[in-house]
Amino acid sequence: MAKLDIITLPDPRLKLVCEPVAVVDASIRKILDDMLETMYEAPGIGLAAIQVGIAKRLVTIDVSREGEPKAPLFLVNPVITWASEETGVYQEGCLSVPEHYDDVERPARVRVSHLDRDGKACEIEADGLLATCLQHEIDHLDGIVFIDHLSRLKRERVMKRFVKQAKARGRGGFFPTMG
Ligand code: NI
Repeated sequence: MAKLDIITLPDPRLKLVCEPVAVVDASIRKILDDMLETMYEAPGIGLAAIQVGIAKRLVTIDVSREGEPKAPLFLVNPVITWASEETGVYQEGCLSVPEHYDDVERPARVRVSHLDRDGKACEIEADGLLATCLQHEIDHLDGIVFIDHLSRLKRERVMKRFVKQAKARGRGGFFPTMG
C-alpha cells in the first residue's frame, strides 16, 4: 500500500463530477487500499478518491472508535437509494478543508447501494455518524464539499481564507529566520 497526497481547497478538482467504475479489478482494489491507508494516516473517517486526485466514484469509510476493532468500508459507485425525512445535525470537517468545522443538517438515515471491494452488489442502511459520513463522501463524487451546504456568506469566508493560503504557498511561503 502507499500513502497518497490529499488535495485541499481551492483545488478545482474538488468540483469534478467523478466517473463510475466499470469493473472492480486489481487496479481499483489497489486504489481503494491506498485510499484506506491514506485515510487512516491522515487521520480521517472517510475519503473519496477525488481527494487524492482520482476522479472515480470510490469511497473508503471507517467510523469505528479508537480502541475498537477497525471496520473499513469500501464503496464503489455508491448511490443513495433512500433518505429519511427526519434530519440530524453534525459538526463536519473534511481532510480537503483542513481545520474548518461547521454544523451541517442532512437526512438522519440513508440507504446506500454500492459495489464492495470484490465487486459484489451491497446495500447498507445507516444512521448517526455513518449516515452523515456516507452523504459527505458521496457528495464529493459529485463535486460537492461540505461547505457548499453552508450559507453563502460563511462559504465565501472559508473560500477566501483558503485562496489566501494557496497564494502564500505559491509565493514560496519562505520566511527566512533572522539572526
Ligand atoms: Ni470531505
